[in-house]
Amino acid sequence: MLAVENLNVTLRNGHVEKHVLHNISFSIPKGKVVGIIGESGSGKSVLCTTIMQLFREKRTVTGNLSFNGMSLVELSEKEMRKLRGNEMALIMQNPMAMFNPIVTIGEHFTETIQAHRKITKKQATAHAKEQLKRFQLFDENILKKYPHELSGGMLQRVMIAIAASLNPSLLLADEPTTALDTTTQLEILKELKQLHATTEMSMLIVSHDLGVIANLAEEIIVMRHGVIVEKGPTSHILQHPRHRYSQRLVAARDEHSQLADLIDRFDEEITGELMQCDPGHWVRMEGSA
Ligand SMILES: Nc1ncnc2c1ncn2[C@@H]1O[C@H](COP(=O)(O)OP(=O)(O)OP(=O)(O)O)[C@@H](O)[C@H]1O
Ligand SMILES: [Mg+2]
Repeated sequence: MLAVENLNVTLRNGHVEKHVLHNISFSIPKGKVVGIIGESGSGKSVLCTTIMQLFREKRTVTGNLSFNGMSLVELSEKEMRKLRGNEMALIMQNPMAMFNPIVTIGEHFTETIQAHRKITKKQATAHAKEQLKRFQLFDENILKKYPHELSGGMLQRVMIAIAASLNPSLLLADEPTTALDTTTQLEILKELKQLHATTEMSMLIVSHDLGVIANLAEEIIVMRHGVIVEKGPTSHILQHPRHRYSQRLVAARDEHSQLADLIDRFDEEITGELMQCDPGHWVRMEGSA
């Protein structure tokens, strides 16, 4: 369904260039959930927005991004717009960034739905109400509210509801639970799990919380400074992490210590090549040949 091959992304800001993603390769087969874990600044959000082909004018992208056999990099903006929302949707890291503060939640819904379906506003509103219920939001007055009138958890849930409203085959969730209290985090995780169980939507879940990833994903990708450090089946990564960096991550989870502290203490450079150590389990190491 999604195949990322040797992806390199350089951000352009005026004359300043920054090579943010280095030779990223992975795939998300149909119906699978893949999780990406990595510290702040490792390039997770840039990866998500590059898959969605956003901010194209500010990025140089090389490598392949193939979605259902289409090369996303080669699609025109018009063709991409047809895919976004409809076939692939992104839940952004900052919910406020996705909402226009002067537009009601209801209008956000109907705009998204009507952009892709030829239906009346009334039908779109009815569809929006169904979507709210699907995510346990039973108060229809939500549709009349403005984004700032909702709590963070509520807004996050609305964002998932909007993203899922057209039943995309791929959902990218960039830190869907960060900035939420623990109870709300668990609820959002439950919603995402439920969504996956009922629709078999493929998902990419991004987080810097290994617990979140381990809970949802069948495969884990560990990223640092724009490179993949290790990737493999979730159980392998949790039980037999090979790279010292991943070992620290897993140990930190068991010790319930904060990722931030751990990162501060990890000052080794990530070098070497990704090599397969077990079936489907890849780790970056120095070549032994
Ligand atoms: N608009 C931008 N202009 C310049 N640099 C940027 C921009 N967006 C991201 N970067 C840089 O790209 C790198 C990757 O950023 P990105 O936001 O993808 O990290 P992240 O892994 O999502 O971090 P976080 O966990 O904090 O969300 C960082 O070094 C960041 O400073
Ligand atoms: Mg991010």
